Amino acid sequence: MSRILTGIQSSGKPHLGNILGAILPAIALSEQATNASFLFIADLHALTTIKDPNVLKDNTRAVAAAWLACGLDTQKVTFYRQSRVAAYHTELTWYLSCLTPFPMLANAHSFKDKSDQLSDVNAGLFVYPVLMAADILLYDADFVPVGKDQKQHLEMTRDMAESFNRVYGPTFVVPQSRIDERLMVIPGTDGRKMSKSYGNYIDIFLPEKELQKVAKKIISDSTPLEEPKNPDDDVTFKLFSLVATESEVAEMRQNYLRGGYGYGHAKQALFEILKTRFAKERELFNYYYQENPAALEQKLAEGEAKAQAVAAKKITEVRQKLGIG
Ligand code: TRP
Repeated sequence: MSRILTGIQSSGKPHLGNILGAILPAIALSEQATNASFLFIADLHALTTIKDPNVLKDNTRAVAAAWLACGLDTQKVTFYRQSRVAAYHTELTWYLSCLTPFPMLANAHSFKDKSDQLSDVNAGLFVYPVLMAADILLYDADFVPVGKDQKQHLEMTRDMAESFNRVYGPTFVVPQSRIDERLMVIPGTDGRKMSKSYGNYIDIFLPEKELQKVAKKIISDSTPLEEPKNPDDDVTFKLFSLVATESEVAEMRQNYLRGGYGYGHAKQALFEILKTRFAKERELFNYYYQENPAALEQKLAEGEAKAQAVAAKKITEVRQKLGIG
């Protein structure tokens, strides 16, 4: 059994790019029988940037609802909010901080990048990688699937685990990163990479009318309706191919090449397929996010009880090693 662990930033309602690029692949990984997965919402990390309690709460709820809506099985995966196990996460952060050389943190890309952008550089941002290491080491994770931007954080985590093991004896599993090299770039409505910060994202959980409006906004060239069009240059076609079946894509390709088929038709077809492909997800998202937040809370509370038990055991061991147990 391999223990797989990863943290999700609570940065708002996940969009189509997040769902296709991160959520669905992670759920597929968690379904392999040889894996025991821990998946948590990194809401303590979010505090380094989000200062509005309602925004933080809402982001966390939206992220959790989206994962559940996309099929995360909480029987198989320990799914929790980091903040609900905060006592252990922050306690281990302190112990690891006392072993972490200052320059290691000062050299973190995440800190260096933000330190000249943000007007308020807080100490939390500086300690961010230590909290992340605590998130991982507390659960004896073997593998940590992350994006390329997190590579350095994982190297720091390994360093911290090795330092601790050297000083206090074997205690932590030294985790391996699993860097996602797939370059699955999902285009946004303006053709650039779909991203919240560009405002070009497709929110598949929107009410139908609004979702249709977003589909209509997708960039297209001015080729007249009756003329043939190149599907491979078109954003609507690319998005359609990411969600439709092979035969539907082949048919759409023919429509483009044949002519007499406008971008408006293609956008309407994309809207329809988003509605049908994600019908269940849309319904479940509304259920957890709008209609029955208590059900969402219940699912998270179950995961948090499991996470607490694992973390408590590890912390007890760590305290003894440190001489404060
Ligand atoms: N820093 C990660 C990110 O920005 C989120 C995260 C926090 C994380 N703790 C983690 C990821 C532990 C993997 C393991 O995406």
